Amino acid sequence: MDRIPQHVSIIMDGNGRWAKARGLERVQGHFEGVESVRACLEAAAEDGVKYLSVYAFSEENWNRPQDEVIALMELMMRSMKNELHTFLDNNIRFVVLGNRARLSDTLNAAIDDLMNVTAGNTRTTLILFLSYSGQWDILQAAKKAAAELSPEEFQALSADDFSKYLITAGIPDPDLLIRTSGELRMSNYLLWQGAYTEFYFTDILWPDFRKPQFREALAEYARRDRRYGKVK
Ligand code: IPE
Ligand code: IPE
Ligand code: MG
Repeated sequence: MDRIPQHVSIIMDGNGRWAKARGLERVQGHFEGVESVRACLEAAAEDGVKYLSVYAFSEENWNRPQDEVIALMELMMRSMKNELHTFLDNNIRFVVLGNRARLSDTLNAAIDDLMNVTAGNTRTTLILFLSYSGQWDILQAAKKAAAELSPEEFQALSADDFSKYLITAGIPDPDLLIRTSGELRMSNYLLWQGAYTEFYFTDILWPDFRKPQFREALAEYARRDRRYGKVK
């Protein structure tokens, strides 16, 4: 069972194409994508994955048409309300990480409420990366460290020390990163934290990625040989 990854992260991609293929509005793909999050969270909890993180909205996604941005923010709000019982019944901790200054006050308040009420839950942690980008994270960490430390302390920082200033401080780096919809890129996701992450790419569109597909990715991970630059 040591081949079960501790932290699985997902770049959920392909909602728009899923909807378009059915003659639906893009937002319908996002709605269906929420079902995939629930399915993968259920599988993660059942299989002993301690952290499941999902890239829900990138800093770059703010540049989408305004109506899609608004629809996505409303969907976050509604999903958090609807899933409260899922988190409480299944001992799931909920965490949002990203540039929260760009979110509305109402959304931030709802996020804080849900984070507080699930803070003591221990089975699995669901992390929503919202208004996140890897470059933003590294930059805010550097600024925080520079403000807090003396020039001598700053010069003496190790990579491990530096990672304590990242927004992901205290969360283990992802062991496995899944990206759906056939795109083969990082899209400014966990640039620092992904240094030794195993990648899993699939053509399946996010709304079609459910428990069996998640477990297929776990099975593939179990077959990987992680060497960290060493000789085995
Ligand atoms: C992923 O699906 C969801 C977000 C990025 C918010 P997309 O909306 O990117 O769907 P495609 O890539 O256009 O199909
Ligand atoms: C990446 O998907 C961001 C999220 C899944 C939140 P995009 O669809 O925005 O990425 P690009 O534009 O194809 O790189
Ligand atoms: Mg996309």
